[in-house]
Amino acid sequence: MGKVFGLLGHPVGHSMSPNIHNDAFNQIGIEATYHAFDVEPEFVKEAVHGIRALQIAGCNVTVPHKVAVMEYLDEIDEEARLIGAVNTIVNQNGKLIGYNTDGRGFVQSLIEELNEDLKDKRLLLIGAGGAARGVATALMLYGIRHLAITNRTIEKADPIVQLAKTLKTPAEAVDRAQAEKSLDEYDVIINTTSVGMSPNIEDMPLDLGNLKREAVVCDLIYNPLETKLLKVAKKEGATTINGVGMFVNQAALSFEHWNGVTPDRNRMRKIVLEQLG
Ligand code: ATR
Repeated sequence: MGKVFGLLGHPVGHSMSPNIHNDAFNQIGIEATYHAFDVEPEFVKEAVHGIRALQIAGCNVTVPHKVAVMEYLDEIDEEARLIGAVNTIVNQNGKLIGYNTDGRGFVQSLIEELNEDLKDKRLLLIGAGGAARGVATALMLYGIRHLAITNRTIEKADPIVQLAKTLKTPAEAVDRAQAEKSLDEYDVIINTTSVGMSPNIEDMPLDLGNLKREAVVCDLIYNPLETKLLKVAKKEGATTINGVGMFVNQAALSFEHWNGVTPDRNRMRKIVLEQLG
């Protein structure tokens, strides 16, 4: 019998992960299947123990379980520990190891789209939740030299500023008004909040009046493919990057952790775009 992989989340009905991973297994010739498991929050512990009991080879973990699964794992990779969340579990002969490929997936997509070094760019992160922490951690481990964080609730940016201290990266929290006023100081602006996500597609997390033309504006959102933030940025002449690349890369990195081979990311991207219609 082939290996079984899965997704632990709630809800998981609209997940694109089964399609892209099952296609990659077929394509590469790995005898395995990937199934989305809808796990109610009260059953997270049982679900993780179930991975061992049923000898499931590996899992992705999504909302709302990325933090909750951690205490039931045997080992947490350094990056996932810094982020404080796990999106990938590898079952290594009964030992469950947690990784986080979200942030790295984003950084990879940013580097690929820009085709240049990020280290000396001035970056502004919008948001301070779990997604922001993943992106911030990966950017700092990559070696950026400065990070600004803005958030509706500014105090919530403090833990990311603290993390930056640990990783010896200069970072500061700036309130929304200040960020908007000095927006032309930033080379890369990254929205990690859900503001602008379908169905609230007219919402924007930040006013882009002072955006510089050479700026790059990224949105982790991929539904819609082009958020209002990206539409406005494009109109201003900026380069824009949506969340599809990050989604594909995090999946490809998980696949590598499980199988030791890299899947065809162009195929993955095609499937994602087809499914998003
Ligand atoms: P995720 O894991 O997707 O990051 P999260 O941890 O719940 O989710 O974080 C949500 C982020 O989106 C936060 O930065 C949140 O801002 P607050 O810390 O002020 O709550 C931001 N966010 C969500 N809805 C928002 C809204 N309507 N306006 C501005 N920011 C919003």
